[in-house]
Amino acid sequence: MKKEKPLLLGQVRHARMDDIQMIYKAIRENPKEVLPRSYPDLLQNFDRFMVYEEKGKIKGVISWQVLPNVEIDSDRTIEVVSFSVRHRSQGRGIGALLLNKMIEEIQSYGPDKILVLTFYPKFFRKFGFRKKSKRKLYSKIYIGCIKCTKYLSPLTCPETAMVRQISPLPKKEGQS
Ligand SMILES: CC(C)(COP(=O)(O)OP(=O)(O)OC[C@H]1O[C@@H](n2cnc3c(N)ncnc32)[C@H](O)[C@@H]1OP(=O)(O)O)[C@@H](O)C(=O)NCCC(=O)NCCS
Repeated sequence: MKKEKPLLLGQVRHARMDDIQMIYKAIRENPKEVLPRSYPDLLQNFDRFMVYEEKGKIKGVISWQVLPNVEIDSDRTIEVVSFSVRHRSQGRGIGALLLNKMIEEIQSYGPDKILVLTFYPKFFRKFGFRKKSKRKLYSKIYIGCIKCTKYLSPLTCPETAMVRQISPLPKKEGQS
């Protein structure tokens, strides 16, 4: 029988500037999967972070970046980045909560798809992401990988590229 997960007592919210130290720690805790980021970089981009906070502590973080595109009005892609749950809090449903909230948030921006590069494709499959050949995403992946020093090329990196299509939100009354 599947073990019941304990109830989550915290909540996902937008990050604040005073969260940066805890965001930094959460990212540093998973160096194999998540690229470390400097304090100034995190501070400059704090408004692209969501955090899961419980009893005053940040247990998980997620962020995103918009990928550049040369085609006007098509293939607008947002990449999931800096997605990390603290070791002791993994497996409680925090990752699922963070990813769902992030998708909800960026849906209002009107992207066509979300991209992720991951060691855990089975996790992302649960959220509608499907494997995509890196060769078909080459230009998209390049910007995501530009700061990575772990692998010589995105094509030899062991992470799997996955994409989820995003349907546009229904227009509100009065919107053309
Ligand atoms: C991957 C990660 C974000 C998942 O967060 P989490 O809080 O541990 O995951 P959850 O508890 O929300 O799990 C949700 C579901 O995914 C499953 N799952 C979690 N991690 C998984 C994994 N590595 N592989 C396959 N399935 C996984 C859970 O069993 C659960 O399934 P269920 O709903 O059927 O019970 C977290 O483990 C983590 O930070 N890992 C290290 C860093 C990392 O890889 N980040 C992602 C970079 S793209």
